Amino acid sequence: MSQQYRLAVLNGDGIGPEIVPASVQIVDAAVATVGAPAIDWSELPLGRGAIDEFGTAVPEQTLAALSDVDGWLLGPHDSASYPEPHKSLLNPSGTIRKHFDLFANIRPAKAFPGGNAIVEGTDLVIVRENTEGFYADRNTFAGTGEMMPTKDVAIMHGIITRAATERIAHEAFKLAMTRDKRVTIVHKANVLKMTTGLFRDVCREIAAQYPEVSVNDFHIDASTVHLVRRADKFDVIVTENMFGDILSDLAGEVAGSLGIAPSINASSTQAMAQASHGSAPDIAGRNVANPIGMILSSAMLLRWLGAKFNDEAILKAADLVEEKVAATVEAGTMTPDMGGSAGTKEFAAAVVDAITAAA
Ligand code: IPM
Ligand code: MG
Repeated sequence: MSQQYRLAVLNGDGIGPEIVPASVQIVDAAVATVGAPAIDWSELPLGRGAIDEFGTAVPEQTLAALSDVDGWLLGPHDSASYPEPHKSLLNPSGTIRKHFDLFANIRPAKAFPGGNAIVEGTDLVIVRENTEGFYADRNTFAGTGEMMPTKDVAIMHGIITRAATERIAHEAFKLAMTRDKRVTIVHKANVLKMTTGLFRDVCREIAAQYPEVSVNDFHIDASTVHLVRRADKFDVIVTENMFGDILSDLAGEVAGSLGIAPSINASSTQAMAQASHGSAPDIAGRNVANPIGMILSSAMLLRWLGAKFNDEAILKAADLVEEKVAATVEAGTMTPDMGGSAGTKEFAAAVVDAITAAA
């Protein structure tokens, strides 16, 4: 028996108010089609609108409400355009990831047939450590972790810990066990020997607990070359925070468009769906944004809930969303970034129709 889920939506800035509602609509259609109870959604303030209304991009009541729901959809934020002091503070996704210790950022890159991929057949997942590394702002109890001793010298620190590396490595190897049983560790241990060297070595230690999984490793620079040419040869990639940030944009584009790249940010108790891309303020409000990244992130959240609550119906809803997004692309309905001419709304409506027709 499927249960009723309480999910929050944070539309965010830029294209967020277009792609997040499109995702909600599609999730609703899939949940109804599989006969599961309708999702209980609540919209929470975040981003520029929240600054204007509450004086902060991530209001306390938003964090309190998030701790009380089963999961949530986070739209992109345009924090680079916030007025000071908000612009210099930890950005909204960083704030939420840090607050809830959402340590595993799971970022698939999967090419659709007919979907304008640079490397056809790409089907990989980047498992990005989400709490430390070169993201100085995740490493401090207070402040953003950057220092400016003189106006011409800026310093940041990067941190790699055994504990955080062990837990992200387990996520990567467990995921690989459900896939093609191959993990690539990405690091820069020829230069950042102690930090990313520790990351590589701890991942290799954890690998010993998964003898069925084969392991290799690449330096971050070399891995970009392999991804551009041979993305279809990768299964699971595990890496630290900033390398994962950069590689996941690359992998999304190689698979067809950054606009299709989804992710969830998860701890063992909570999960947040968030597209890998940004808020694209240049195209906001024009009905041209690709909603696929956000839609597939929402499907990942359904899958995460299905696994957590052992809920077959919600897993079926996740399958349905993924299948019908792929079918819509294959039928030639795509937004301009993928070479099509569909608008955000038209694409979402086509997916809803395909899902409803499956009833
Ligand atoms: C991402 C984004 C974020 C990051 C930004 C918005 C803080 O680029 O989720 O990949 O750097 O992690
Ligand atoms: Mg990024």
